[in-house]
Amino acid sequence: MSTDAKKRKQPHELRSYRWVGPDDLRSFTHRSRLKQLGFAQQDWEGKPVIGILNTWSDLNTCQVHFRQRAEEIKRGVWQAGGFPVEIPVTSLSETFMKPSAMFYRNFLAMEAEEVIRCHPIDGAILMGGCDKTTPALIMGAISANVPAIYFPGGPMLKGNWCGTTLGSGTDVWKYWAERGAGNLDECQWRQIEDGIARSTGHCMTMGTASTMTSIAEAIGMSLSGAASIPAVHSAHTRMATSTGRRIVDMVWEDLKPADVLSLDSFHNGIVTDMAIGGSTNAIIHLIAMAGRAGIKLPLEMFDKLSQQTPVIANIRPSGEFLMEDFYDAGGLPALLNRIRKFLKPDAMTVTGKTIGQNIESAKVISDSVILPLDKPLSQAGATFILRGNLAPNGAVIKPTAAEKRLLKHTGPAIVFANFMDMKNRIDDENLNVTSDSVLVLQNGGPLGAPGMPEWGMLPIPKKLLKQGIRDMVRISDARMSGTSYGTCILHVSPETALGGPIALIRDGDIIELDVAARRLHLQVSDAELAKRRESWKPPAPKFERGYGQLFCGEITQADQGCDFKFLHAGKATAEPDIY
Ligand code: FES
Repeated sequence: MSTDAKKRKQPHELRSYRWVGPDDLRSFTHRSRLKQLGFAQQDWEGKPVIGILNTWSDLNTCQVHFRQRAEEIKRGVWQAGGFPVEIPVTSLSETFMKPSAMFYRNFLAMEAEEVIRCHPIDGAILMGGCDKTTPALIMGAISANVPAIYFPGGPMLKGNWCGTTLGSGTDVWKYWAERGAGNLDECQWRQIEDGIARSTGHCMTMGTASTMTSIAEAIGMSLSGAASIPAVHSAHTRMATSTGRRIVDMVWEDLKPADVLSLDSFHNGIVTDMAIGGSTNAIIHLIAMAGRAGIKLPLEMFDKLSQQTPVIANIRPSGEFLMEDFYDAGGLPALLNRIRKFLKPDAMTVTGKTIGQNIESAKVISDSVILPLDKPLSQAGATFILRGNLAPNGAVIKPTAAEKRLLKHTGPAIVFANFMDMKNRIDDENLNVTSDSVLVLQNGGPLGAPGMPEWGMLPIPKKLLKQGIRDMVRISDARMSGTSYGTCILHVSPETALGGPIALIRDGDIIELDVAARRLHLQVSDAELAKRRESWKPPAPKFERGYGQLFCGEITQADQGCDFKFLHAGKATAEPDIY
């Protein structure tokens, strides 16, 4: 008997056996109710029960194909001798959920954890894709710690406008600016609206969705190659059935998230984030996911790995191509093989092999999409961490998405007290703004907004757009869409609503940015700041009850991953009693 065979679980050791195995009244009820569903004893007896957590919703455009994919996953589960059950969970539609899908990330994480724990589930498939679904499902699965595979929904097809390729988000911001500058008419704007989202699937730029699905694969939580397959490609169906087959074996092998994830896995996640020029949002999600596994990721780890890792994915917003091109160029396994020397190749994955083994035969097919190491988009600098008296606990900037001339800049602040204030005044002809101004948005943080929406890419005032200005220094405690670009300083911590220094900035204060020195400084004396702090008043609570109140009482700051305090790793939660 091989070592692997010796380790395999026996049917009576399955979690689900506690529900359906014993000869008692409660198990009788469970078995009779399975029969009510039309299943016979041989459908489930001695088989791992695989819970397919499906984030499908009519209002989640990125995951419209998930009903069909769930059936294809089930096909794989049946083939491998498992018993699949599909369970709907919250969808987290980035487009339609307000105030932001981020407000509900921890909600889905809690739901995923509890759904797995309270049901007779031996293994879980986590079906996500739209931005926050990936970290939320993985956070929940880490805390539940039953064998789990993340199944990504895949990017949508490339957009097209009269022969011009369009990328999600990135080209929305670009052409919105052109419209503001008076360079696009109503008809052209409608044509772009028609052509920018041409199929199901998540945003096909290297926005947060593609970044997070790539990271999920790099930390070992998806099958190799899963993240890059376009949603409507037949390979996506084949990946679904493969995932269904694999999870059954994982249950017998008892390969749980705690066995897969390590500091090395998260090292690989961060390096991948840097090499793909990933979304700044990934920092928050990586810290939160690692936190569930009891692993601390200091912000400086991101900065250090960012300096060492060349950006080689030539994908928008940092580069030229889109995810469909990335897949055809070899996809993530090929990119990972190219950056192999920066990875920890021995980190475990859900395949039961190491990441090094998974990627060893992957080849780059197009050097113009996955760039050679000696011809990167940027030698370093996918994401840098800034500190200074304006952000004692850190702030984030993506230099590859910024105009180089602004990476060292000093200018006077124009302060907006909140998003509506910004919206109402940004295009006011009387706003005292020049291209040297530094736009500051307050109250966009985890607590203040609430939910830290993607407001950090403040629009350029129309009067400057008309002068040809397309980038300015912008500072906020909010996030920005991974599809955006610009000199946007984000995640300023502590946030405005906690009285962080960003709350004390006033119009005309001089702000100094020096990205090379990682410095973000407010040129106001300590004595003056102390005086302003004395007169600062915290905002009134936004919620008197419900989830919002729970959120505001428990949310942590960006540098801590914005998880709820009570969900951080701790002593494992006991299995439920079955009476
Ligand atoms: Fe779902 Fe962009 S809207 S990933």
